[in-house]
Amino acid sequence: MQVDDVQRVTVLGAGNMGHGIAEVAALAGYDVVMRDIKEEFVQNGYEQIEWSLDKLAEKERISAEEADAALDRVDPIVDLETAVSDADVVIEAVPEQMAIKKDVYGDLEEHAPERTVFATNTSSLSITELSEVTNRPERFCGMHFFNPPVRMQLVEVISGAHTSDETMDLIEGLAEEMGKTPVRVRKDSPGFIVNRILVPLMNEAAWIVESGDATIETVDSTTKYDMGLPMGSFELADQVGIDVGYHVLEYMHEVLGDAYRPCPLLAEKVDAEELGKKTGSGFYDYENGGANVPT
Ligand code: 3HC
Repeated sequence: MQVDDVQRVTVLGAGNMGHGIAEVAALAGYDVVMRDIKEEFVQNGYEQIEWSLDKLAEKERISAEEADAALDRVDPIVDLETAVSDADVVIEAVPEQMAIKKDVYGDLEEHAPERTVFATNTSSLSITELSEVTNRPERFCGMHFFNPPVRMQLVEVISGAHTSDETMDLIEGLAEEMGKTPVRVRKDSPGFIVNRILVPLMNEAAWIVESGDATIETVDSTTKYDMGLPMGSFELADQVGIDVGYHVLEYMHEVLGDAYRPCPLLAEKVDAEELGKKTGSGFYDYENGGANVPT
């Protein structure tokens, strides 16, 4: 399949990344199915897309007509078989845990047509290991978007050990059609490029606070104003989801060793289900003033 043959994209998962990727694909003109395991999850994702498209229109990044047309192209579905039965490309964005993703690929393989290419939005997990659950490891690669997908330009396109050059070309082309800048990652190693650098930065920031060396506000103002990053480390953790960063670290710790041991401060937030913006609070309180108000 060539990139020009792609018409229908199915996104599995309507969470933070899933609905954002569905939105990006719809804005690029694709017919999009967004699938999650419960009606309330797909509805919530759909409402998030609607909010985001309205915001883009309000900021004059797109017209109101483009926003309406993009929303019309998104079909929220719960039944997996219906969701993938006519998909050219499936982009999987389910929770960042190997066991969950493997289960999803087992089910997906049963229902997806032979031609369908699978791309995982995993933040860190082995593309090769995931691809081996399917009967099409050569038509399987990583397609890693950044949060929020509609605003972030980069997409990492990652080759597993079995990925064909045609699949890499197709997914790279698809990222370009979506208006993104793909970077090809040849080595399937934990965290790929961006998260290998960014997630330890968030972890180190947490260790500084955990050890009492500085406050969250001091660390964030330093990363933001002195190091020139667009968000402070804790603000960024809240933006991507503290659970997402934590699971990436757990995996990097397991595969790459002790340098990546997650700070207990992150585990405490995960246990308390204070995961960042998506739950209303994380390191900051978003129900009472956002990033200016630490919890
Ligand atoms: N859709 C539409 N609008 C959105 C939005 C979305 N998804 N998310 C935020 N906005 C809106 C905000 O509500 C705000 O609107 P308001 O002014 O009316 O309140 C507006 O966008 C802010 O946009 P601006 O252009 O004025 O603001 P910035 O210049 O600060 O840009 C940003 C916002 C692009 C998010 C910028 O802060 C940024 O680049 N942050 C860093 C994000 C980042 O690094 N992401 C990668 C994380 S790593 C990752 O995702 C990998 C994973 O695997 C862990």
